[in-house]
Amino acid sequence: MYILRNATTALSLAFALFSGLSIAQDTGIDVDDKGFLTGKKVAIVYYSHSGETYSSTGEYPNLKHGNTELVAENIKKNVKDATLFKLEIVGKYPEKYDEMTQYVKEQQEKQVLPELKCIPDVSEYDIIFVGTPVWWGQMSLPVASFLQKANLAGKIVIPFITHEGSGESGIGEAMQRASECQKVMPALVIKGSEASESEDVIKKFIDTLKE
Ligand SMILES: Cc1cc2nc3c(=O)[nH]c(=O)nc-3n(C[C@H](O)[C@H](O)[C@H](O)COP(=O)(O)O)c2cc1C
Repeated sequence: MYILRNATTALSLAFALFSGLSIAQDTGIDVDDKGFLTGKKVAIVYYSHSGETYSSTGEYPNLKHGNTELVAENIKKNVKDATLFKLEIVGKYPEKYDEMTQYVKEQQEKQVLPELKCIPDVSEYDIIFVGTPVWWGQMSLPVASFLQKANLAGKIVIPFITHEGSGESGIGEAMQRASECQKVMPALVIKGSEASESEDVIKKFIDTLKE
């Protein structure tokens, strides 16, 4: 965990130097949109990497569940009847953290998106929470694949983002750019290493959407 924190902090610094510190972007959402969660069909779609990869190596034994997965499960606890969809890629990412980060950087530079095992059908849902870790200052590639393939026209998208220092990183705006036909709300942003202690923050965020 210590190694992960150091590595991700280094990544964050590198990213900050590379592109300038990011701030939450104005997604153009009307703040009067409170209370819209009540009575709506809700899906929670997310990608989470750590749990899958690092628990098997023994190097990061605390990460049985990925950080974004912990947040997704917590959102579900607070939104009655929500359906969870975990995105999975065809094939595997590198197991070692440094190889993984290098691989992702190359894929981002080449703009190659991974194939997903399946694209969740969210047609019957009104509101889609979309969860992603920050990867080199961007949304994770599997989530970018999902947004490219899914039809989210007319849906309300609520991003939730975990990171290790970069914060929101303009991902809400990037999600909005993925399709003009969806309405992207301001994101729930959680520091990944604090995900397991973020129950109150998540509950408060959801409560503001219900009020
Ligand atoms: C390939 C890769 C790139 C990352 N890039 C960043 C970054 O630019 N900024 C940051 O704050 N954290 C970065 N991180 C850390 C993750 O965003 C953070 O640990 C996140 O909570 C992981 O979520 P997960 O466990 O659900 O995969 C990166 C992690 C990986 C694996």
